[in-house]
Amino acid sequence: MGGNLCKWTISYFAAALAWLIAAEVLMVAGFGFPSADIAAPDTLVLVHMICLGWLSMAMCGALFQFVPVLVSRPLHAEGWILPAFVLLSAGLIALLAGFLALGGRMPPWLWLLPFGATLLIAGFALVAANLGLTLWQSRPLPASARFVALGLLAVCATMAFGGIFALALFEPAPGSLVSSVLASAVPIHAIAGLAGWLTVTAIGVSYRLLSMFMLAPDVDAGKSRLVWLFSAFMLGAAVIGGAVAVLVGQGLDLALMLSAACGLATLACYARDVAELYRKRKRRKLELNTRMVVWSFASLGAAVALGAVLAITGSLAAHVGALVFLIVFGWLSGLILANLYKIVPFLTWLETYGPVMGKAPTPRVHDLVAERRATKWFVMFFAASWAATALLMLGQPLGFRIAIAVIVVATFGILQELIRARRLTDVAAPLRLPAGALAPRLLITRT
Ligand code: HEM
Repeated sequence: MGGNLCKWTISYFAAALAWLIAAEVLMVAGFGFPSADIAAPDTLVLVHMICLGWLSMAMCGALFQFVPVLVSRPLHAEGWILPAFVLLSAGLIALLAGFLALGGRMPPWLWLLPFGATLLIAGFALVAANLGLTLWQSRPLPASARFVALGLLAVCATMAFGGIFALALFEPAPGSLVSSVLASAVPIHAIAGLAGWLTVTAIGVSYRLLSMFMLAPDVDAGKSRLVWLFSAFMLGAAVIGGAVAVLVGQGLDLALMLSAACGLATLACYARDVAELYRKRKRRKLELNTRMVVWSFASLGAAVALGAVLAITGSLAAHVGALVFLIVFGWLSGLILANLYKIVPFLTWLETYGPVMGKAPTPRVHDLVAERRATKWFVMFFAASWAATALLMLGQPLGFRIAIAVIVVATFGILQELIRARRLTDVAAPLRLPAGALAPRLLITRT
């Protein structure tokens, strides 16, 4: 990963964590689902704080750092990262304000919805163009980078649907195409975002990160290509099939069933590849991040099983909130937090000690963290996420809020561990700052 450190990756992570904590605190206060309906404006505020503010910002930050590593070529335009950050943050704030206006918590300034959507679309266009051009210039793409390319297509689809929804809510026109898209295409928007953009990209990046962090040989290209093909079909069935169904005025059932079948095949093949990576690893003793990633995989497996049971018993509509919660917290948030616990110390180590390597004694990456102390926060996070899912299923809103309060404590705990790593607090004093090394700044990487 060497000298190519991205200046803004840590800033994206910091903003992402701030959005996560803000959303969690609102949930503890009883804002949005389950106290409000799943499609209520308050719930949309929460959903987008988490999906855009937390998960998407963290993913963008990680991709700016890792795409150049995946394709061994510098990012197309480092200078576009900060403007994208500003557009995404301003767009999200405007969109959330628009949802609050929609719910009557603010004056009825519904123009905020298309305004926020436009800023968000511009921000993601900058992100997708930057990463997409980097990938385009690196063809033929290595396996993991192809997943990122697919994820970028998915985020474009998510944004396109989101933009249409925002227009339809701003100027309702019953019977028009935009209104029928709003009435029927929300599942396509959610699948493109959660499964296409976030999960497919996470799968691609994890192939590389797991083999890098566990010193395991890369998975055979043919095997990961199969996973890629199934994910492409999953996305195609949901987005293209779903859009055609909406245009011809048909229900989404067929498209969603096809998409779910391809999604299952994707995850089955991916699970086989991940098991192989763990089995063939040379680093026998797992570090905390790779142990916790297993817990996020377990959450994904549990979500698949839960989704199947709910679909077979015809109770998916009644419990879709609990299912999405498990995917968003147990799987995606758990996975990202576990990886941040490795990536932040790793980047901090490169930033601080890279320039003096070979000139002075330096600590190991592992010396920047205290795994024993951090373990409890991750255990709390996952246990409370699973408990919160169960409490949602059981219809216990108060119990759910208590579980989220535990998640808040756990998130603060993990945040504090990341800040300690940035500040080199756990590095023994004699090694902390060798001559010539500069202490890292908290929010911006020195490049
Ligand atoms: C330009 C950016 C976006 C805009 C303008 C937008 C807008 C919207 C709107 C207006 C709805 C509600 C539709 C309705 O009235 O039922 C919605 C629902 C939803 N969006 Fe987005 N969205 C955006 C990006 C995203 C992203 C990136 C994700 C996920 C990664 C996402 C996930 C969801 C989910 C899961 C729902 C369903 C929520 C529920 O029914 O409670 N959105 N979005």
